[in-house]
Amino acid sequence: MRLYGDLAPWFHLLTAPADYEHEAERYRETIVGALPDATTLLELGSGGGNNASHLKRSFTCTLSDLSPQMLTLSRELNPECEHVLGDMRLLRLGRTFDVVFVHDAVAYLTTEDDLRACLGTAYAHTRPGGVALFVPDCTRETFEPGTEHGGHDGEDGRALRYLEWTSDPDPGDTAYEVEYVVVMREAGRDTRIVHDHHVLGVFPEHTWLHLLEDAGFEPTAVPAQPDDDDAPQPMFLARRPAGR
Ligand SMILES: C[S@@+](CC[C@H](N)C(=O)[O-])C[C@H]1O[C@@H](n2cnc3c(N)ncnc32)[C@H](O)[C@@H]1O
Repeated sequence: MRLYGDLAPWFHLLTAPADYEHEAERYRETIVGALPDATTLLELGSGGGNNASHLKRSFTCTLSDLSPQMLTLSRELNPECEHVLGDMRLLRLGRTFDVVFVHDAVAYLTTEDDLRACLGTAYAHTRPGGVALFVPDCTRETFEPGTEHGGHDGEDGRALRYLEWTSDPDPGDTAYEVEYVVVMREAGRDTRIVHDHHVLGVFPEHTWLHLLEDAGFEPTAVPAQPDDDDAPQPMFLARRPAGR
């Protein structure tokens, strides 16, 4: 996916850190509501570090991602955070955190086996008594096809606009597709247009809950609240039992 590869330096013009303030506050409140003394947090699939740029005020954050280019971008925004390269299905740091946080990056897991592996990673890094918070873009119940557009002007003369077109060719499977058309302008260069095709995963709420239980967690589905685009926001809060 070029968005997280050669186009990673443009990511904050696609989706700006400042726009994450309200949702990050919702995640902070959910975490602190479950674990008032939470201090350390590991994010799996932290991308451009947009949520982390707000969560780091409340937690000592370790940020992990599969893409070295996205980690480079996040390091510029969040120099005080530890950054580690790793796949959320396989990462093993050999230490635990009060909180493991998994946001929209989990959508890049398209099979139950991959999702199971990610939940195993989350469990392995959550301290006994700690919590993991999963915030997928959607569940099978909340998925909606559609189109969105957006983008930002940078302070350095660069500007980006995008069209995001979400569809589900086969509602009977666990994958859907997103086409991104990205238009980039910068001084001294011709305008560039890139098409990026993403395949993402979507699972029913009961699959999330039973895979979380299988991983060893005590999970709850947090009642859906509208996100900043007024779409319902699924969240799964999972506690690692204190004795295990
Ligand atoms: C939309 S971005 C995440 C943005 C992030 N929520 C933020 O606050 O900036 C999705 C990220 O998922 C990462 N990703 C995709 N598959 C992954 C995997 N298996 N393990 C870790 N990261 C993955 C991509 O490299 C990309 O950086």
